[in-house]
Amino acid sequence: MGMKQKPPFILYGGDYNPDQWDEKTIDQDMELFKKAHINLVTLPVFSWAKLEPEEGVYDFDWLDHILEKLWQNRIYVCMATPTTAQPAWMSAQYPEVLPVDIAGRKRTHGMRVFFCVNSTKYRERAAAIAEQMAKRYQNYPGLVAWHVANEYGTYCYCENCQRKFRVWLKERYGTVEELNKRWNTAFWGRIVYDFEEIMLPTELNDDYRFNPAVQLDYMRFVTDSTKECYENEAQVLRKYTPDIPVFSNISGFIKKLDQFRLTENMDCAGWDNYPGPRDEMSLPALKHDIMRALKDGRPYIITEQSPNQQNWQPYNKLKRPGEVRTIAYQGIARGADACLFFQMRQSVGGQEKFHGAVISHAGTENTRIYQEISDLGAELHTLGDACIDGRTNAAVGMLFDWDNWWALELTSGPTQDMDYLDQVHTYYKAFYEKNISLDIVKVSSDFSKYRVLVAPLLYMNKPGVAEKLETFVQNGGTLIATYMTGVADENDRCVFGAYPGKLRDVLGIWVEETDSMYPDESNSMVMRIQDEPFSSSYQCGFLCDLLHTTTAKTLAEYGSDFYKGRACFTVNHYGKGKAYYLASEPEKAFLLDFVEHVCGETGIRPIFKSEGRVEICARENEKGEVIFLMNHWQEPARVHLEKDTYCNLLNGEAVSGTVTLKSREVMVLRRIV
Ligand code: GLA
Ligand code: ZN
Repeated sequence: MGMKQKPPFILYGGDYNPDQWDEKTIDQDMELFKKAHINLVTLPVFSWAKLEPEEGVYDFDWLDHILEKLWQNRIYVCMATPTTAQPAWMSAQYPEVLPVDIAGRKRTHGMRVFFCVNSTKYRERAAAIAEQMAKRYQNYPGLVAWHVANEYGTYCYCENCQRKFRVWLKERYGTVEELNKRWNTAFWGRIVYDFEEIMLPTELNDDYRFNPAVQLDYMRFVTDSTKECYENEAQVLRKYTPDIPVFSNISGFIKKLDQFRLTENMDCAGWDNYPGPRDEMSLPALKHDIMRALKDGRPYIITEQSPNQQNWQPYNKLKRPGEVRTIAYQGIARGADACLFFQMRQSVGGQEKFHGAVISHAGTENTRIYQEISDLGAELHTLGDACIDGRTNAAVGMLFDWDNWWALELTSGPTQDMDYLDQVHTYYKAFYEKNISLDIVKVSSDFSKYRVLVAPLLYMNKPGVAEKLETFVQNGGTLIATYMTGVADENDRCVFGAYPGKLRDVLGIWVEETDSMYPDESNSMVMRIQDEPFSSSYQCGFLCDLLHTTTAKTLAEYGSDFYKGRACFTVNHYGKGKAYYLASEPEKAFLLDFVEHVCGETGIRPIFKSEGRVEICARENEKGEVIFLMNHWQEPARVHLEKDTYCNLLNGEAVSGTVTLKSREVMVLRRIV
């Protein structure tokens, strides 16, 4: 986490809102926290109105008192600036702090994360309270990190945002001529002669969305504005406590802000993990891997997850016995050094009164959830620093990019079902199920440390990326590309001279047309190669590229429709490496076989061979490697440890040979040398 005084154990605890409780309850909480090995709380996330009852008048005494109690009990604090929910007096006195929505409605006070990130008044008051807190608590012994605001993500369309957007565009493009070119405004006669004529992308109608190039820039602008808004507080905090890490927690719904950009100036990444009851476990796994990528593989914080049900899902399922534990280990195994929950004590009223908590309304330790949290606390305590600061070694990288995400989904056609995260997940899942470790990779990263790079739907070709991919393959790497690759530039203008643009040589193909499939339609991939482990044919669908091979070899052809017999899966040998192209979305069975095939060719192996569903990952720190085996499912699974003997750090037992993991069983293994 990049902290100098980082405690040498997994941070365990979560959001605590003691401003809702009386003294007796707080004292009881301290007892219950200690018993459950809670070593950190995050606070006071929502206390701005209580801390600053009128402009410039502060009341910190109650917080001092709670902080004292926490430190007496040796519970650390992730100190939040309370700026996610501005006090009512501020919204009343300075309406400019309230956001305007996409329909032009000025919003009223009462929600949280409900302010205009560009409001001067908001930023002034936010920096002021951050400064008060930094001054007051800079020497607080339990201070572990600064948590700025909470889950940024409000899109505002006020006049101030409009004014700033124009300035942002002027800085980006210099002249209106350049802007007109980039936005291709000749289309539909949208030419502008002055930056002042530029409007925010607020108009929507049923047939067409706004010019995607404008929307794309607005999303970039909102990310930059939010980053500035974060920085406004962070710089104040850093001035007083240069050694304490500063960050903000990211919402589980991560599309609306480019998290790579947003976290650039953060000392660590932190995210709120709320898997839906029916999500496949590969989905939170993918999101964890994205979080690990934000700070180039460094450990991150799970700032929130629910110890039990949520209140905001359509159907709020209870966490099944043992579930909170396996979910927690999944995050730790994938790179988190902190496992925090929302929330420590369940609130009595308000929107979240039915949201799960470590301490429920029953207010006692005799609940299933408290016991599970407490058992997990004891276990993590035993684990100590075994995986702290541990890194993941992966030979496979998967490209992921927010601009690409936005552009793909903003565009009209070729299908209304375009869902980038879902597509990335489809490809990710095949590696996940084979337990092949994978890093999420930024397009700006160094590709050379990977043997295989998967680039699902790399629609937007940012400057220099195609060249880097070419070099990667040239030097012996294996590239896997798909339909919707190399179509547009950074401003969503399509390339001339056939897709995939600059990637045509390395892939050895060019795409002439793309057919869109109805959800109930499919085509097939008839394999021309008979190699193991491939079957003779598979289903495919979603989109079907009609392509021409130039230097690539056809590995499979379409089985039906007017393009029957044309290539749908190709490979191109290029330099010392090779590049595969998937012209259509294959069924899962193909992807599993394909991963096996590619791993066989490149000598990449899972950590252990296994049978049945089990998640296996490893982290390595200066003490060595720790391997996590997790069975999230109903059926038992078998893992072959082969010749070595390991110690299960959770119970100190030696294990070797083939181990069977029952449903919800977890093992954390270290090789005994
Ligand atoms: C978010 C917020 C929390 C809380 C939880 C509830 O992640 O950050 O304050 O509202 O959701 O699930
Ligand atoms: Zn605004």
